[in-house]
Amino acid sequence: MNMHLNEAKRILVANDRGGYTVPTDRLYPFQWNWDSAFVAMGFALYDTDRAYRELERLVEGQWADGMIPHIVFHQPSDTYFPGPDVWRTSHMIPTSGITQPPVFAIALRKVFEAAGPQARSRTILLYEAALKWHRWWYSARDPEGTGLVALLHPWESGSDNSPAWDIALARVPTTTDTPVVRRDTGHVNAEMRPRDEDYSRFIHLVDTYAACRWNPAKQWQKAPFKVAEIQTTAILLKAGEDLEYLARLFGRSAEADAIAALNDRTRRALIRQWRPKLSRFVSRDLISGEDIEAATQAGFIPLLALDLEAPVADALVNEMSAWSEGLKVAFPTTRPGIVGWEPKRYWRGPAWAIINWLLIDGLKRNRYTDAAEDLRRSTIAAIESEGFAEYFDPVTGEGCGGLGFSWTAAAYLWLIST
Ligand code: GLC
Repeated sequence: MNMHLNEAKRILVANDRGGYTVPTDRLYPFQWNWDSAFVAMGFALYDTDRAYRELERLVEGQWADGMIPHIVFHQPSDTYFPGPDVWRTSHMIPTSGITQPPVFAIALRKVFEAAGPQARSRTILLYEAALKWHRWWYSARDPEGTGLVALLHPWESGSDNSPAWDIALARVPTTTDTPVVRRDTGHVNAEMRPRDEDYSRFIHLVDTYAACRWNPAKQWQKAPFKVAEIQTTAILLKAGEDLEYLARLFGRSAEADAIAALNDRTRRALIRQWRPKLSRFVSRDLISGEDIEAATQAGFIPLLALDLEAPVADALVNEMSAWSEGLKVAFPTTRPGIVGWEPKRYWRGPAWAIINWLLIDGLKRNRYTDAAEDLRRSTIAAIESEGFAEYFDPVTGEGCGGLGFSWTAAAYLWLIST
C-alpha cells in the first residue's frame, strides 16, 4: 500500500469542513474556487459523491449574474484577511467579489465520467451553473468580444503576485480605505509571501470595486487594472470544450452550438497571442495596450486548450526544457535566473503541482508524452520527499508555504493514477 496515497486522502479528510474542502487549515480557512475544482477531480478517483458535493457547495456561492466567486465564506474565521467585511458583497452566503480560473467545467466532466449515467440529473444542475458562469465571463470580462477574457484583480489569475502583474499593478495606488491587517504572514514565512506594497494595491482594487457595488459594467469602466490573460483564457477554452461536450451529451444542442461559437472565437484569439521571438504566448495589458512579456508559466498554459502546429509546439516545448534545465523540480512559475526570479516567493519562481497538472494535460494533448512523463515523475518525487506542501522551491526541491495542502493532495492522487 502506498503510504503517500493514504496521506493524501487523510489530508482531504482533515481539510473537510462539511462537503467542501479548505485549501489548508488557518492560512486559507474557506472554500476557494479553483482549489475546489482540482480537489473534486481528486475525489472523482475514489468518491464521486464527495466530488459532486465539492462542486455543489461551491455553486452555493454563485451570484445572480453568474459569477462564481473566488472565495465562499461558508463559516466565519478570523485567521484570514480580507474577510467578508472588506469585500462588502451582497450574496446571501458571504463571498468575495472577484473570481478565479474556471477549472470547474473541466472537473465536472471528469466527475461525471467517473460517476456514470446515473449521475445525469445531478450533473445537469452543475452544468447549468457552469454555463451561466461561462456566459458571465464573456459578457462581464470580454464586453468587446475579442475572445480573450480580462482580469480586474491579480488574485483572479490564481497566480497572485506573479511578475506578470508588476507593470500593470504598479499603476494601482497603494492608498486604501480599509486598514490592511495581514494574517498570512502570521502562518508562514514572510519571505515566501507577497510583499506589503502588493497587499495595499490588492486592497485598493477591492475598495474600488466595492465602491462600484460590484456591478460588472461599472467595474469595467473604473478598473485601474485590466489584463486580457492567457492562462485564464486557456482554462476557459478547455472548460468550454468540456461544457460543449456535456451540452451535446444532454441533448442541449442550441446551447452546445452557442458554446462552440464562443470557443472558436477564443481559440482564434489565443493563437494570435503566440510570440515567435519569445517562444511562448503573452497576455495583454488592456490599460496600456501592450503585450505582457514577463517570463512566467502562463505563457505555456495554452497547450491545454490548443492543438498546436508542430513548429509552434516544438518551439514552446523547447523553451519549457530550457527553463527546466538543472532544476530539481520543474515547472518554475518564473524563468530561472532572470531579474525578479525568487525561487521561494509564491508565484515568482516556485513550482506548483496544479500548474504541472495543467501542463501535463497540455503536453499530452499535443503528444509530447515524454515531456509529460518527466514532469509527472518529478512532481511525484517532490511530493513524496517533501510532503503535500503548497508549492516547491524548484532549485532545492524544498516544500514551501502552507503544509497539508488540499490541491497538492488531489494532484498527487491524479498523478499516480495517470
Ligand atoms: C493563493 C493562491 C491561489 C489559491 C489560494 C488558495 O491565494 O495564489 O491560487 O487559490 O491561495 O489555495
